[in-house]
Amino acid sequence: MKTVIVNLKERSYKILIGSGLLRRINDFIGSLGDMEKIMIITNPPVFSLYAKGIENQIRKNYKVTTAIVPDEERAKSLKWAKFLYDKMVKEKMERGSLVITVGGGVVGDLGGFVASTYMRGIPYIQVPTTLLAQVDSSIGGKVAIDHPLGKNLIGSFYQPKQVIIDSDVLETLPEKEFKNGMAEIIKMAAIRDKELFSILEKKLYTISQDKVLLNKVIFRSCLHKAKIVEQDEKEKYLRAILNYGHTIGHALESLGKYHTLTHGEAVLIGMFLAAEISYKTGVCKKDVMDRQQNLIRLLGLPGKRLSFSIKKVMEAMERDKKVKKGKIRFVLTKDIGSAIIREDVPGEIVSSVIKNFFQ
Ligand code: NAD
Ligand code: GLY
Repeated sequence: MKTVIVNLKERSYKILIGSGLLRRINDFIGSLGDMEKIMIITNPPVFSLYAKGIENQIRKNYKVTTAIVPDEERAKSLKWAKFLYDKMVKEKMERGSLVITVGGGVVGDLGGFVASTYMRGIPYIQVPTTLLAQVDSSIGGKVAIDHPLGKNLIGSFYQPKQVIIDSDVLETLPEKEFKNGMAEIIKMAAIRDKELFSILEKKLYTISQDKVLLNKVIFRSCLHKAKIVEQDEKEKYLRAILNYGHTIGHALESLGKYHTLTHGEAVLIGMFLAAEISYKTGVCKKDVMDRQQNLIRLLGLPGKRLSFSIKKVMEAMERDKKVKKGKIRFVLTKDIGSAIIREDVPGEIVSSVIKNFFQ
């Protein structure tokens, strides 16, 4: 097992990474001190696959109840948050009780949000079961539900007490979801880790089959995320580099009403274009753009030709949270493993790059 520590003074916590960790969950919970009552939050497929087994183990040592929310983004809503609050009140959950989220980013964001607000905050552990949740959403304390007018609009920064990453659970993860997580790993390598980027270039296809390599890739991604969160927990500046590929990506995702493209596909297109913008603005050399675009093609650049107008894409970017005082914030790569934030990217370069891609 490998451990990454997220060092945030009194809110520090460990990310535990390895194979077979779920079998040891009682030891990990025990290391956090006395917990009397535990509520597991999960969804139907993950309950059958993993959370039921976790519940059976935990029952030996603790009083446990399980809450099951729908398996869709719609679970990140006030309706399902209320469902969880109601259950917590009924079960007499207290400040000293513990929430364990078992699932992907949807369950983690919703469960973390509810834990952050119930009784002004009770402890929670993240057990992420998608690759995306393991390398990204379970770390760093961004918890949220959606508003009908926008994703993640109601939320807070609320760090978990522990993150338990068992890579064995990825064996049941559909390929499409694995790819979503790989898109975020490529992002992390592009902005932070040249060596990881080279590993991905050489071994992208073998990662899902090679446990040692998979654990290494997850570990390195978590380590980088932890270091970024330690330096800028509330996204005042540095943490925004995690939005590499997301400026255009989020615009495409929202224009497609979250159905046309998966988040990973949108981020892959977003990074493909951000690399080109980095080159066209003179921020990086051609080779830096080419290597990123080749790796993205290797994972699978979505071939779908979308029918959004450039105007609509630009407008959607302007509506996004990444706009500061009317200026669109772009993350660009200077080199492989090195990113900068720019707010002065000429609109003509952005629109011509998007236009070329979709024509
Ligand atoms: P998800 O939670 O919807 O999970 C994807 C699918 O995989 C679901 O159908 C789920 O039931 C299934 N699944 C989960 N684990 C499985 C397993 N081991 N085997 C088989 N199936 C499994 O999607 P996601 O990509 O994990 O998360 C997306 C959410 O994360 C979005 O709501 C996004 O806003 C959020 N997010 C949050 C952050 C953050 O920092 N908090 C970062 C990125 C994304
Ligand atoms: N996923 C972006 C962040 O955690 O800041």
